[in-house]
Amino acid sequence: MMKMPAKIIDGKEIARKIREEIKKEVAALEKKPGLAAIIVGDNPASKVYVGMKRKTCEEVGIYSEEFKLPEETSEEELLELVRKLNKEDKIHAILLQLPIPKHINEEKALSAIALEKDVDGFNSVNIGKLVRGNEASVPCTPKGIIRLLEEIGIEITGKNAVVVGRSNIVGKPTALMLLNRNATVTVCHSKTKYLGEITKKADIIVVAVGKPNMITESMVKEGAVVIDVGINKVDGKLVGDADFENIKEKAGWITPVPGGVGPMTIAMLLENTLQRYKEAE
Ligand code: GUN
Repeated sequence: MMKMPAKIIDGKEIARKIREEIKKEVAALEKKPGLAAIIVGDNPASKVYVGMKRKTCEEVGIYSEEFKLPEETSEEELLELVRKLNKEDKIHAILLQLPIPKHINEEKALSAIALEKDVDGFNSVNIGKLVRGNEASVPCTPKGIIRLLEEIGIEITGKNAVVVGRSNIVGKPTALMLLNRNATVTVCHSKTKYLGEITKKADIIVVAVGKPNMITESMVKEGAVVIDVGINKVDGKLVGDADFENIKEKAGWITPVPGGVGPMTIAMLLENTLQRYKEAE
């Protein structure tokens, strides 16, 4: 059988269409949806991400506010800000950009966000709901990954899905969302033995580790779908966690980096903000 090169999943274009739909929907609303983004400390990547999120909000007509708190902010000060935003009428969605400084209890801070304003779905109650199969508020990147699979017409039920990476932001919630859709899910991580033997059996591979060339061609089954969540800089160029050039000759579908999952995360943030607004107003 002749090998067919993989089809590239155009996350950039899919995200553009979603933004267009959201823009139309927002234009027809009486009041503007509002997003508050909080950054604590000086993480340069966080500033870039929040900047991109706010710019995209502006493009689609969503009001946004940014709260930049210094590294030495106390837990109580952060909690006070969150409680204040929980009560503000023009704010429908609250985002606490991670990471936050180590002296602040992350779980406590995230769970202070009111459930009805929890745009990232990081409040422990929303995580618990997701575990139970109730996707009332789910994290943006996992939601974007599922949307990409739907867009390319991949049936998830019964598939072997392997998630590489077990972060609270991507790996764990993605595994849960795949499980909720009846995939047989395996979660791999830095202590996993014989990773390649496991990924080789996957129909769907999601990799979110942050290590270039973590997934190579020999680890991928012919025709598999590869979703690459990695964002790494190598010689000034952005690359993912998968060896794209070689895998694309073997996989059925693959996301590029940049232009795959990244734009979908922001599109899902807008969608979640609009959802929080609709449920409140
Ligand atoms: N840090 C990295 N990704 C994310 C995200 O999706 N949301 C938040 N709040 N912080 C992040």
